Amino acid sequence: MFLHGNSRVINGELYIGGCSTTELTRAFGTPLIVYDEQHIRDLARAYRRPFEQASVPYAIAYASKAFSSIAMCQLAQEEGLWLDVVSGGELYTALSAGFPPEHIYMHGNNKTIDELEYAVDHHIGMIVIDNFHEIEELSRVLQKRDQKIDVILRVSPGVDAHTHEFISTGQQDSKFGFDLYSGQVEIAVGRVLEHPNLRLVGLHSHIGSQIFDVAGFRVAASRMATLFARLKREYGLELSILNLGGGVGIRYTGDDILPPLEVTVKGIIEVTQHAFKEQHQTLPILMLEPGRSLVGTSGTTLYTVGSRKDIAGIRSYLAVDGGMTDNPRLALYGAKYEAAIANRMDEPNAQTVSIAGKCCESGDMLIWDAVLPASQPADILAVSCTGAYNYSMASNYNRIPRPAVVFVQGGDARLVIRRETWDDVVRLDVPVTVRA
Ligand code: LLP
Repeated sequence: MFLHGNSRVINGELYIGGCSTTELTRAFGTPLIVYDEQHIRDLARAYRRPFEQASVPYAIAYASKAFSSIAMCQLAQEEGLWLDVVSGGELYTALSAGFPPEHIYMHGNNKTIDELEYAVDHHIGMIVIDNFHEIEELSRVLQKRDQKIDVILRVSPGVDAHTHEFISTGQQDSKFGFDLYSGQVEIAVGRVLEHPNLRLVGLHSHIGSQIFDVAGFRVAASRMATLFARLKREYGLELSILNLGGGVGIRYTGDDILPPLEVTVKGIIEVTQHAFKEQHQTLPILMLEPGRSLVGTSGTTLYTVGSRKDIAGIRSYLAVDGGMTDNPRLALYGAKYEAAIANRMDEPNAQTVSIAGKCCESGDMLIWDAVLPASQPADILAVSCTGAYNYSMASNYNRIPRPAVVFVQGGDARLVIRRETWDDVVRLDVPVTVRA
């Protein structure tokens, strides 16, 4: 298992942020999601540094969908990040954390009236308008309150990027945003300008996720710069913000080879500068909204090893006390992870086992064919890179309680989300009166 951030092996044991993983599991139980807090802070700084060095006006917003919690929102604030929320629940979490509303903006392809009202009543910084319906709904909500709000338009730029490849499509088949090619963007701009309570300040595009290369960003930046120039010509619009979304990838396994984060961010800045120069436009404030690349490599899930099934000549299954309930990404996307036995880090590899969860479903697997040292029940299995889209997509399938989450730093651990109990699992059930 590749050791990210502040993970180290000391006396044959995995330590994260100076904390012994066996001690963590004794104190907090398993499954346990452990976040290396300093590593998140270092990555946030790696995002900001190239902008500071290039003296480019910028803002980095943490895409809280990757892992939303009060502690994480507070950390994002401490690191000078903005916050991207995509639902009333994520906004509620951010406001509960005391996050400054003026640095929050809301995404979503079907924001409800309740969500729009909640956002407007709390004076969040911006709304990312996604569709025609929303223009009218948001304007109505604002009119009722005699309020104005900054908005940016989500543009579907016809770039579909994933890992090393990107596809440049004329007409992007996506449920998000205004299509660039069919002229939806211009129509949307015209409509927004008819509503004086919507202050159009910029444009947004997001081209995909787990991207290793700046090539897709280059195409997106160029299309957006051309659009900025066109809107200036046609409407006299001086937009001040370009948000290029998130999507920068991480190294889940040894097959994922990508440059250091700072190099990628520098590349995104350069391709954007180049695109605006070509259009003779001044560079707007460049925003990025990373999720995975801020928190993905900072999370490690610790499980207790339990039962085992060996099928001679076919496969060995090693089961742990979690699974698709805390990490549905293999089941959903075929995602690949690396693992280690946290209390046997110096022992030689001696078995190939597939790591199974405890759900009543064959697809409940965490890793196929992991190569590990010999293991015993009660050993601690660590799966790395579980910081993004794991807890946030966790479920109570089979009425399994969600795990606890701790932040570790400098040898200290603090519980940031407590483990669900069986009482929590039934907390929304309305008890039925038993008839005599
Ligand atoms: N901005 C927008 C508009 C997005 O849709 C997303 C992710 C992000 C930013 C953050 O992207 P990131 O930097 O994390 O790649 N559940 C999937 C990922 C879904 C991504 C959804 N949008 C997974 O587990 O891989």
